[in-house]
Amino acid sequence: MAFHQTNLAWATLLDIGGPGPAADGGGRAGLRERLTRALRTAIRDGRLAEGASVPPSRALAEQLGCSRWVVTEAYGQLVAEGYLSARTGSATRVSWSPESDPPRPDPRRALATPAIRYDIAPGLPDLRAFPRRRWAEAVRAVTGSAVHYDLGPPDPAGHGQLRATLAAYLRRSRGADLRTASVSVCAGVTDGLFRTCRTLRAEGITELAVEDPGWGRLRDAATSAGLRVHPVPVDDDGLRVDDLARTPARAVVVGAAHQFPTGTVLSPDRRAGLVRWAREVDGYVIEDDYDAEFRYDHRPVAVMQGMDARRVLLLGSVSKTLSPALGLGWLVAPAALAPALRAANPVAAAPPVLDQLALAAFIDRGWYDAHLRAARRRFRTRRDLLLTTLAGTLPAARVTGPAAGLHVLLHLPPGTDLPATVRAATSHGLRLTPLTAYTSHPTSAPTALVLGYGNLPDADVPAAIRLLRDALR
Ligand SMILES: Cc1ncc(COP(=O)(O)O)c(C=O)c1O
Repeated sequence: MAFHQTNLAWATLLDIGGPGPAADGGGRAGLRERLTRALRTAIRDGRLAEGASVPPSRALAEQLGCSRWVVTEAYGQLVAEGYLSARTGSATRVSWSPESDPPRPDPRRALATPAIRYDIAPGLPDLRAFPRRRWAEAVRAVTGSAVHYDLGPPDPAGHGQLRATLAAYLRRSRGADLRTASVSVCAGVTDGLFRTCRTLRAEGITELAVEDPGWGRLRDAATSAGLRVHPVPVDDDGLRVDDLARTPARAVVVGAAHQFPTGTVLSPDRRAGLVRWAREVDGYVIEDDYDAEFRYDHRPVAVMQGMDARRVLLLGSVSKTLSPALGLGWLVAPAALAPALRAANPVAAAPPVLDQLALAAFIDRGWYDAHLRAARRRFRTRRDLLLTTLAGTLPAARVTGPAAGLHVLLHLPPGTDLPATVRAATSHGLRLTPLTAYTSHPTSAPTALVLGYGNLPDADVPAAIRLLRDALR
């Protein structure tokens, strides 16, 4: 009976019942968050006084009707933050009071890199949803059906079967024009751009424009291929073609369907302007089609490559649709450039042939389309959940970007200390990326975070956003 009373007292003190409806997204992680927050709040407002001991983890777990892991994790987190102290053989005690200086994190724990529990940096699809069974089935099938010739030295431009399958897919699904262009296989967009830049250099083009803000690895690929890079600003209509025309660039990389990280869709006028510019400078537009399959309000916008297959190259990969671990992508280039592409990349390695054949089988059997349909449904729901949660938890913040892709841009009130927010979030296990990580002029960049929801389970969305709110405080 006495135990039962203690039980009630702790539950009341912490304002936390049994597992109940998991407001923090359910499961053990949600419960751990609730308990950590409840304990922290009770210490901060003095309900748990300095020196008081907290119950042994097993006892509190029993009282709250949760697993012991939830309690030890919560205690561990608060020890790391300096609110509790734990010594082997004695009770865990409250080590801070509202009158004290700010809590001093335990140096031994603080030294360790905090474990990341919620990763909302952009870049990943839902890795838990990788279609393992069908992928394994495709690998098994092609391992059995590949002719012995397929197991010889691979063609650097990719296996003919996958090239044909991709050509059909890109024509049908992305509106690509393959009458005067050819598809080659590469290890992804980054590798495709590297190969393209080496080719451009061999053709006498040394200056390349990239979007600002933009994804740094594309820039790195270009500079390591020996090109000079010129950042060009992006506004609400996408890349500013008038600014591009003022640079010495004769080629430009553009995320026409969904610019990274602003999410802008290149307007029809700008698309036309960009193609005109490429013709005028006798140059090329390199279209980064990295996540264009994910559009949630209507069908994905067709590729620019279809507007002029002699001036626009198209790069894509399965990094956002299946997994970056596969290292499979494509490069669609004017047929006239194909010999130069081969010549400029004499040691380029094609991805493993059996993986190429597996992707071809995966697409040919209709499994890629089915996977994309399911992924679109999943990401649309998750994006809606994220927006609703943000509106409820951070009403002063504003989300921009179309209903597309795997990330949103979250604008925060001016004056928000972004570096401090990112540090505070990291120390609480939340990985965040500020927009400044992608700009060439960080001081003039809008105060915004790039939130990737691709690999954040729905159940973790509320807890992750609450951690973000706490970090902003
Ligand atoms: C803007 C952009 N382009 C392309 C990619 C995909 O690159 P890769 O196919 O080399 O994995 C990414 C991945 O994060 C990206 O953010």
